[in-house]
Amino acid sequence: MRVGMLTGGGDCPGLNAVIRAAVRKGILHHGDEFVGFMEGWRGVLDDVTMPLTLETTSGILHRGGTILRSSRTNVKKISGGFEKCVEVLGKHKLDALIALGGDDTQSISLALSEKGVKCVGVPKTIDNDLNGTDACFGFDTAVGIATEAVDRLHSTAEAHNRVMVCEVMGRDAGWIAITAGIAGGADVILVPEVPIDIEEVCRLVKYRREHGKKFSIVVAAEGAQFPETGQATHGTAVDSFGHARLSGIGQALAEEIEKRTGYETRSVNLGHTQRGGTPSAYDRMLATRYGVAAIDLVHAGKFGRLVVLKGTEITDIPLADAIAKTRTVGEDLLTVMKSLQPLASS
Ligand code: F6P
Repeated sequence: MRVGMLTGGGDCPGLNAVIRAAVRKGILHHGDEFVGFMEGWRGVLDDVTMPLTLETTSGILHRGGTILRSSRTNVKKISGGFEKCVEVLGKHKLDALIALGGDDTQSISLALSEKGVKCVGVPKTIDNDLNGTDACFGFDTAVGIATEAVDRLHSTAEAHNRVMVCEVMGRDAGWIAITAGIAGGADVILVPEVPIDIEEVCRLVKYRREHGKKFSIVVAAEGAQFPETGQATHGTAVDSFGHARLSGIGQALAEEIEKRTGYETRSVNLGHTQRGGTPSAYDRMLATRYGVAAIDLVHAGKFGRLVVLKGTEITDIPLADAIAKTRTVGEDLLTVMKSLQPLASS
């Protein structure tokens, strides 16, 4: 078969591992040929490609980023965009297209599927917010980076008797914040799923001080928000999918905590460090399993579907289910988080 592949949206560690696995299984077991489209959907619209062979995908398993590059290109916003995609994919005589991406990228895969293109999706995002899968590759690496940062902040916070606020990514889901926060032993964890209660935040850091701990660590998801002001953004611009650039809640919190408690407070925004560099062993493994499953789906003739992890098994679901809603942090983890904090009455 002739199979196209692309990586769309924000990059994450593990994209290259998926590409390598799908290409190896496709070529070595089925005699497939692969065409890589550069920079996500932009490469399809502009017909910019690279060959994906055993040679071009060799030595990339451990590399972050994506050899296919990426972009946030919304075909829906481009006049005649879908017609152009169908034309270019037809020109390459493709039997299938494998798109690696989050909800935005998969929304384009779904629309193209409905126009007869044989698409298979692979769930990619450090945010871990795609519906219908227990894990997206890239998340584990991002959490590892954020947890290490939280560990490192402890010693400097303690040395200076400071409150340190660490802002992490995740868009409208608090998966990175709650996982790195719990794993790193943060004293306060703020997620988009729960509006910020600044009095409670201050109570928790004051409690520590009154009980002999002169420093505190606060982990805040970039999407966490004060009930009055909404999410903090970098300017007012939005990307082609309508997303604002979330940034600044960490600094806003630091100022508010210092003002209310009198404790010296600093903030650090981890930003894109969470997306860069080599994938963790877990992400390499998950990405490899997804890559193999994606090419297996193509050969099974199952299109319009996304490969997913359910428990420990790789399976697949309709693309429409994956983008139906954002998967957010549930009560179970929020309860674990609260279980580690002192009660209001204490
Ligand atoms: O979706 C992944 C993500 O890293 C989000 O956590 C973050 O809000 C966004 O992408 C940042 O996007 P960009 O790289 O375009 O600034």
